[in-house]
Amino acid sequence: MKIRRCAVLFIEPREDLGIDWAALFSGAGALSASLRWVALAPHLDRETTIDAAQVAALGAIGQTAWTERADAERQLGAAMVESLLALGLLLDDGAGDGSSNIAARERDTVLREQHWRPLSAAAHMFSRWDGMEVDKGMHFPSFEELVQSYGAPPEPAIERGDSEHAIALPAAQSGPLDAQLLRRYTGRNYDPDAPLPPEVLARLLQRTFGVQLQSMLAQEALVFKKTSPSAGSLHPTEAYVLVRRVPGVAPGLYHYHPLKHALEPMAALEPAAASELARQFVADQHWFVDAPVMVVMAARVARNFWKYRNHAKAYRALMLDAGHLSQTFYLLATEAGMPGFVTAAVNEKVIERAFGLDPLSDAVVAVCGCGVAAAGQTTLELRYEE
Ligand SMILES: Cc1cc2nc3c(=O)[nH]c(=O)nc-3n(C[C@H](O)[C@H](O)[C@H](O)COP(=O)(O)O)c2cc1C
Repeated sequence: MKIRRCAVLFIEPREDLGIDWAALFSGAGALSASLRWVALAPHLDRETTIDAAQVAALGAIGQTAWTERADAERQLGAAMVESLLALGLLLDDGAGDGSSNIAARERDTVLREQHWRPLSAAAHMFSRWDGMEVDKGMHFPSFEELVQSYGAPPEPAIERGDSEHAIALPAAQSGPLDAQLLRRYTGRNYDPDAPLPPEVLARLLQRTFGVQLQSMLAQEALVFKKTSPSAGSLHPTEAYVLVRRVPGVAPGLYHYHPLKHALEPMAALEPAAASELARQFVADQHWFVDAPVMVVMAARVARNFWKYRNHAKAYRALMLDAGHLSQTFYLLATEAGMPGFVTAAVNEKVIERAFGLDPLSDAVVAVCGCGVAAAGQTTLELRYEE
């Protein structure tokens, strides 16, 4: 049997801070710090504490070529090899009897097949939330509290270059886009009963995520043209829709097909279950929960990484693609007379489970939504004066 290291592995010397109560009572410094090695291997989707000997052993086994297990055992000791195989940081080739940790090997294969940049894979996999409630799990400070804690923020605008000789530009002329640009705002007060008309949802989805033109850039390489730009013309962002109140569309989970312009049902939901899922999707940001639809933007990474293999900028491009789509979504919502929202404070793992997405291949980036505004404003919004 042969073994090799997992495809992507980062090892962090993690410092855990705590209160040293004994030192505190004896009047000495009260902060205690302990250090440990943490293995961050994206295919495992969990942090693993290892010891210094395991760190050294991992450095002795490569992640590309296979090594005879017997040779590795002679070099590192059988117990060491066994411990790293059990943790899923070393993987065997599955040949012969006694193959261990098949699950870890399979996840490693999925990771290798996507062509992730290693740092991007780690950043993505270890920044996902599960069960986070932003109000409870993490303090969500007001601007007053922030200023009290940190002082004033860095100034909102800066001068650079020869500011004395700055060239004053003519006032911006009015234009047709102003009707949307100057009315767009992030809605945080949705009418909990108002439906979203199906024709509004249809236009929002088609003009944000739908195909406007198709082009064969090479044999077998079909690309779409959409209303937002996309890195490499690849449009990897898929739209997964949580429908709550759209007449004629049953509450549930759907995938929007950009070419067929159709909602593919993925799971039906009772209204209460749909509401609870919406709450969990946006990490309990109650100001978004009443929106009649939410659209999850998840990047099909293989589509972008097909061209941008192991590329330093590819993950950044996925984030930018979703950002462009969200602005288009906002502007279309504004055109329909409604506020929209986008949030990156989402429970990716809840979303992945709901839609059956594998985070190594379908990267949840953000959630947007829209709906009719409530009569009053209880949560802060930055609206233009009407
Ligand atoms: C990437 C991104 C993430 C955001 N995340 C949140 C969020 O988690 N919660 C929220 O209430 N608003 C969120 N927003 C909305 C911003 O707070 C909002 O754009 C900002 O306050 C300016 O207000 P405006 O959109 O009305 O101009 C996000 C916006 C962007 C672009």
